[in-house]
Amino acid sequence: MKGVVLAGGRGTRLRPMTDVMNKHVLPVYDEPMIFYPVRTLIDNGISEILVISTPEHIGGYIQLLEEEFDADFSYKVQKSPEGIAHAVRLAEDFVDDRFAVVLGDNIVIDDLSASIERFEASDSDCMIFLKEVSDPSRYGVAEVAGDEVVDITEKPAEPETNNAVIGLYLYTDEVFDRIPDLNKSDRGELEITDLNESYLDDGRLTYSVLDGEWFDVGTPDGLLKASRFVAEDA
Ligand code: DAU
Repeated sequence: MKGVVLAGGRGTRLRPMTDVMNKHVLPVYDEPMIFYPVRTLIDNGISEILVISTPEHIGGYIQLLEEEFDADFSYKVQKSPEGIAHAVRLAEDFVDDRFAVVLGDNIVIDDLSASIERFEASDSDCMIFLKEVSDPSRYGVAEVAGDEVVDITEKPAEPETNNAVIGLYLYTDEVFDRIPDLNKSDRGELEITDLNESYLDDGRLTYSVLDGEWFDVGTPDGLLKASRFVAEDA
């Protein structure tokens, strides 16, 4: 399985730092943020990795990642931040069959091998990962009934559940037939939640519950919490 790390976007919640630098080089304790999603892939046996970032910042990632990791990296530019699903579409030439997407501001510390194996053995085209949180309205949220996801909503004002949909997704290359059918949201982006909802509507979506640690470090609070966790764990 190949992997894709999305490190574009605007990083507005981490201004003013992100006015002059890309969010994913900001430190989580003593390492740049992007090391974590890259390590999530490598630690789970995925070493062919496409990194997608902005035209201004992609060069810095080549330097950072090639020096740190012994993996097979490719790089691609997302010219403008038109959404997570828009960025996923840029992986079309890189991907052949099943692949993982991880958001560059998500820290996922868990053994994902059982979930990856389950996805690979299934006839499902999309697997999302859920984690119970106390502040679900900041995230995509999934409602589960029995073994099935029955609803996914992006940042609902009044969430029905505490299940955040974390920034880690498994797809087949069939995803590239779906993304062109998405419409931009009110914030002008192709939303990952709309993409995942299309799988839900077609009965093609499965989920896994994350046992390990998860941090969205796209906000000052998230960055502080993750840095503390990493420092204490070091
Ligand atoms: O962290 C998990 C959440 O991530 C999910 O629960 C939400 O469903 C999902 O929409 C996303 O929400 P955010 O508001 O946190 O997404 P954000 O715009 O911060 O983008 C997350 C990462 O995706 C960011 O680190 C960079 C990358 N990205 C984002 C956009 C909009 C790109 O590479 N290109 C883009 O155009």
